[in-house]
Amino acid sequence: MNTHDIRARYLAFCKKNGHALMPSASLRPENDPTTLFTSSGMQPLVPYLMGQKHSLGTRLANSQRCFRAEDIDDVGDNRHTTFFEMLGNWSLGDYFKKEQLPWIFHFLVDEVGLDPSRLYVTCFSGDDTMDIPRDEESAAIWKGLFATKGIDAPIVDIGTEEDGARNGMRNGRIFYYTAAKNWWSRAGVPEDMPTGEIGGPDSEIFYDFGTPHDSKYGQQCHPNCDCGRFMEIGNSVFIEYIKNDDGTFARLSQRNVDFGGGLERIAAASIDTPDIFALDIFAPMIAALEKESGKKYTDASYVEAFRVIADHVRGSVFMIADGIMPSNKEQGYILRKLLRRAVLYSDRLGITRGRLGMLAEYSVRAYEDVFDDVRKKREDIVSVISEEEKKFRRALTKGLKEFEKIVQRTEKEISGHDAFILFTTYGFPYELTEELAKERGLTIHRKDFEKEFKEHQKLSQSASEQKFKGGLADHSAITTAFHTATHLMLAGLRKELGSHVHQAGSNITAERTRFDFTHQEKVPRDVLDRVERYVNDVIAADAKVIVEEIDKDVARADESIEGSFWHKYPERVTVYTVRSDDGTVWSRELCGGPHVTHTGEIARYGRFAITKEKSSSAGVRRVKAVFVPVQE
Ligand code: ALA
Repeated sequence: MNTHDIRARYLAFCKKNGHALMPSASLRPENDPTTLFTSSGMQPLVPYLMGQKHSLGTRLANSQRCFRAEDIDDVGDNRHTTFFEMLGNWSLGDYFKKEQLPWIFHFLVDEVGLDPSRLYVTCFSGDDTMDIPRDEESAAIWKGLFATKGIDAPIVDIGTEEDGARNGMRNGRIFYYTAAKNWWSRAGVPEDMPTGEIGGPDSEIFYDFGTPHDSKYGQQCHPNCDCGRFMEIGNSVFIEYIKNDDGTFARLSQRNVDFGGGLERIAAASIDTPDIFALDIFAPMIAALEKESGKKYTDASYVEAFRVIADHVRGSVFMIADGIMPSNKEQGYILRKLLRRAVLYSDRLGITRGRLGMLAEYSVRAYEDVFDDVRKKREDIVSVISEEEKKFRRALTKGLKEFEKIVQRTEKEISGHDAFILFTTYGFPYELTEELAKERGLTIHRKDFEKEFKEHQKLSQSASEQKFKGGLADHSAITTAFHTATHLMLAGLRKELGSHVHQAGSNITAERTRFDFTHQEKVPRDVLDRVERYVNDVIAADAKVIVEEIDKDVARADESIEGSFWHKYPERVTVYTVRSDDGTVWSRELCGGPHVTHTGEIARYGRFAITKEKSSSAGVRRVKAVFVPVQE
């Protein structure tokens, strides 16, 4: 079974067990300002885990494309990747532990064919301060499951990771760990969860590669040891708690299951290799890299570079497929960082001609038979990657000139500040500057560099903390204004172009609104001008924005209400109507909000102007609009 077969098998298995299959959500979360990337399958489902009704029912499954930017520096070993696919199944208040654990065990053992004697599992040890009991139910279910395969599975209370390193596995197969290891939420351990966040105890499955323990990672080995013997391949989270204001936990109105399994990791276990980069999905790219560089993947001095390039190119391919472009902000910045690192690591392999575009082709090819969007965007993907590499190589050349100037004025030690400028302005990572300095017999004032670097990090960290809080605090008013203006724009487009026009996607920041809608042809400028005028007229009219909650069926049957993505909404929906006192209705749309209360509030940001109109995909057009400050 190759990686694609395992994905297909999993989805078929879930379907057989009554799950509705969903497509993967975008890597760029929709309507979720709290996070840059979709990094687990449950993220798009949070409202439903909290009790909203999902139109597809209470059993859902998919293979979700995920990206974890925080793992970027770990890439290079045999198991970490930034991009990965998470096989996921969910019970929204439906089945619970006694269905979930047997299902996943049977999938891994009987469908994928993993040897059950290589599997080890962990459960939550309980926590008195949180008043949450030990998960004995899961442990007992596991014990029974191993018994069906003739395996005696002793239960051992490990405690913390440190306890594990000290005391070892004591012949156990089922292990209790504390919340640091066996509790899951988007924010991590219970202490780090903000009020209102949901989470719960989890039960993880590990595959034993049987490699010898490396005592660098602790005296003794245990499932959560990082030496490489064990690899986590799946996690069943029992999401049944929500954090209160006072730090305690309350039970949710429903008990949920959130299972996530690393597709690539399961595939690696299925061929009993601890190296994810040995999988079929990477093999052609690795072979191309070997050919280009004349170096071998098996050569220990180059393996890290091979892996970083392969991971970063694949991650970039999927980001671009989801519409992310290299930039200096947010997701675009991470994409840029991936590509820059891939360039630097290519240099290490002696590949200094721009080859990332060619490598991206291999990644596209590995997925094109299963993912239409990747195939359709092949040309864009390859050209964006090639262009970005070109640009960065030019900056590197400039940076090298700057480096020469620095060398001229340096006697022995390059200042931390100079190294920092090379980093921020020319994209030189510290290690690159250090290497170049070494060649000239120079050192770098590392402490000063780190000081500046930390300051810089603190700044970007507070920016991302801001994000977790719901973010864009100082801009939220303008974002809301854009949101209401976007409704008016859709109404204007429908008035000018016809009722076949519906929203196909939207993305709003404090700088602009980007809006996709269903329409075949290019929209002429004079039509855009009339749409613009429509929006500005309604803003000038200071119409009221009225919110009402009605049954979805009723809303759907009402032709005056515009809506798309109906399936994403619960049974009761909110409808926003923009209406003047004289009864004129300017816009009436299904939406989750937020909006201004009067359109006049939008006026302070300026005149609404549509700046761009282009094709987005087949039958879909994309416009961008901004507020142009009005001269007094
Ligand atoms: N949401 C869980 C995880 O990411 C399954 O591990």
